[in-house]
Amino acid sequence: MILTTTFVCFCLASAFNYFRTRRQRSLIKNLKGPFTWPLLGSMHKLLFLSPKNFFQRNTEYLTKYGSLSRCWVFHRLFIPLADLELSRQLLESKTHLETGYELMKDWLDGGVLMCQPDHWQKRHGLISGLFGKENSKQLMELCRQQAEKLHQKLVERADQKVFDIWELVAPNVLELMVMTTCGASPSEEYAKNLADLSELYRKRFLSLQSANRFNYWLSSPFMRRHQNRLIRRLNEEHKDLIARQQKPNKMGDVLVVNHLEPLPQKCHDSLLDLLLESKEPELTSGEICGELNTCNYLGYLLCSSALCFALVTIARNPSVQQRCWEELKLAQSKDQELDLEKLPYLEAVLKETLRLYPPQVIVGRQFKQDFPYTHSIIGDGDLPFGSEIYINLYELQRNENRYPKANNFDAERFLDSPPEILSFSLGPRCCPASNFSIGLLKTLLAPIITRFELLPYGDELKLNMRLILGSSNGFQLALKPR
Ligand code: HEM
Repeated sequence: MILTTTFVCFCLASAFNYFRTRRQRSLIKNLKGPFTWPLLGSMHKLLFLSPKNFFQRNTEYLTKYGSLSRCWVFHRLFIPLADLELSRQLLESKTHLETGYELMKDWLDGGVLMCQPDHWQKRHGLISGLFGKENSKQLMELCRQQAEKLHQKLVERADQKVFDIWELVAPNVLELMVMTTCGASPSEEYAKNLADLSELYRKRFLSLQSANRFNYWLSSPFMRRHQNRLIRRLNEEHKDLIARQQKPNKMGDVLVVNHLEPLPQKCHDSLLDLLLESKEPELTSGEICGELNTCNYLGYLLCSSALCFALVTIARNPSVQQRCWEELKLAQSKDQELDLEKLPYLEAVLKETLRLYPPQVIVGRQFKQDFPYTHSIIGDGDLPFGSEIYINLYELQRNENRYPKANNFDAERFLDSPPEILSFSLGPRCCPASNFSIGLLKTLLAPIITRFELLPYGDELKLNMRLILGSSNGFQLALKPR
């Protein structure tokens, strides 16, 4: 009896699903994809996907089904994409701007990634304003001071012994990001909470219990409680800082210990300053917290990942290291104040690193209406309303047709006629901090290369995908003072 009832329910649900997705299926007839079971779809393709096998599975998938394919999971239509021509059309579109960051909702709610489509443009503009010409000089000065702090820490490790450079780079970048966004240096507790929360979300990524909110709510009550406590603590500190900024006299004489402390001599406008000044739209404190959380999370993880990949890559390519060192020495001999614009080779090295190791591997879009496309090889077509597109930057930027000898590290390709890369995405929703990030990376890298020799010791990178691109055995290298 139970079996029969289950069978009948399954058949009814499958039939309902079939009719519900009829229109979508008719539009994507030209796309290849894995076998689709009734109701479950291609669930089997996702079941054993893990941070460690992510890249291998993806390469196999793309080889089998091509750079534009379809994959049903229950009623959801996923469209994995790894084609530059189509990705460019999609990202440059002014109508298909919805991003899917459902996993991060509890933390980043109220910020630019989560806000309503009619609000995001102004929010995006506010964040871009932080990195405008006027402020960027002061921000680079902040980066220079932070580079000195990183150098002090590295001196202690320059004994030619292997260590994981993430352990020193990540806290340094975290502190820098909080100073940039909040205009305050993070207390030990704030820094720990931010690092722990990022780690918790990295664990949740691709885990079965986090597949949707209901699963997570049911299966991980302790983790969820810990997560919510960390979010609450961070936002309490943000709100405290907002209150102190809004009423400096009233709060000024209250002694607050172990909190975000405004920088004693702040020369730059912080994101918080801009958000508080904004009149059109005027932001609530919840929205300001969302914005600070978004930029801290993205800036901290993405810049740390980029810097670690750059350091390990330079360590393992002695001729690249030598050329960077010579360029830096020459630039310094001409001018004691290092002009970042005059470091074309170092910039090429960074771009090649970002091509091979894009810190944000996937850029997602969710369609609220059909997306008509034209493609020189695939032909013309429509991607249907309701589908979720996942652009795989890692695969896209290792395509042999676009980037000859794609798997080789070759910074020279960015010197004469630089190829297009999408590591900061493209179009209206592209990363508002791309120039700042390149400046930050150059500023932190330059003193390390001039003062230390990076030695290619330790284990090779083992790429993994936990929210951002990382390495499961860390970023191993050794240092020797020059
Ligand atoms: C190497 C460092 C970085 C890389 C590779 C990077 C890459 C990206 C990518 C791929 C996107 C997605 C764009 C899209 O959906 O089309 C993005 C968005 C964004 N990034 Fe960055 N990013 C970096 C650093 C930063 C930093 C330092 C900040 C902030 C301080 C930042 C703030 C943002 C924001 C706010 C968005 C969302 C923009 C929107 O949706 O309108 N990023 N970034």
